[in-house]
Amino acid sequence: MTESLYQRLGSAEGITAIVDDVLDRHAVNPLLAPRFSGKDLTRSKQMATQFFCMGAGGPQTYEGLDMRAAHAGMNISEQELIAAMDDFVAAMQGHGVGAVEVNEVVAMLYSLKAEVLRL
Ligand code: HEM
Repeated sequence: MTESLYQRLGSAEGITAIVDDVLDRHAVNPLLAPRFSGKDLTRSKQMATQFFCMGAGGPQTYEGLDMRAAHAGMNISEQELIAAMDDFVAAMQGHGVGAVEVNEVVAMLYSLKAEVLRL
């Protein structure tokens, strides 16, 4: 049987490492850093890891806000979404994730745009 995306990304250990890297990149990405200044990066990493693990087919339960509530009132732009996706791609490539898996994650993130953009 084909492995789930969760397994192919290295399960909890692999995804935790990728998400840590993504949030560290957001924190220094000029297009995104202002959004995260003063935020609790450790909690953001925990929430994003849970969300991503669950979305990739892992056994975790996401305990954070739903995507609309999490991003409501922020008026996030398309440019910011692309920047966030670029950080994801760079982090995954840095962790040796294959092109097939990178594309699956990109598709997953893109599919959420209506729940993140311009709210
Ligand atoms: C599909 C794309 C995205 C996903 C899957 C996503 C996911 C998440 C998750 C899981 C949370 C945690 C919610 C909680 O605290 O309960 C969150 C919060 C947040 N997101 Fe996103 N996000 C996306 C796009 C973006 C973009 C493009 C930006 C920036 C422009 C952004 C900025 C933030 C900020 C500032 C928070 C709140 C952090 C805090 O208050 O500690 N997100 N996001």
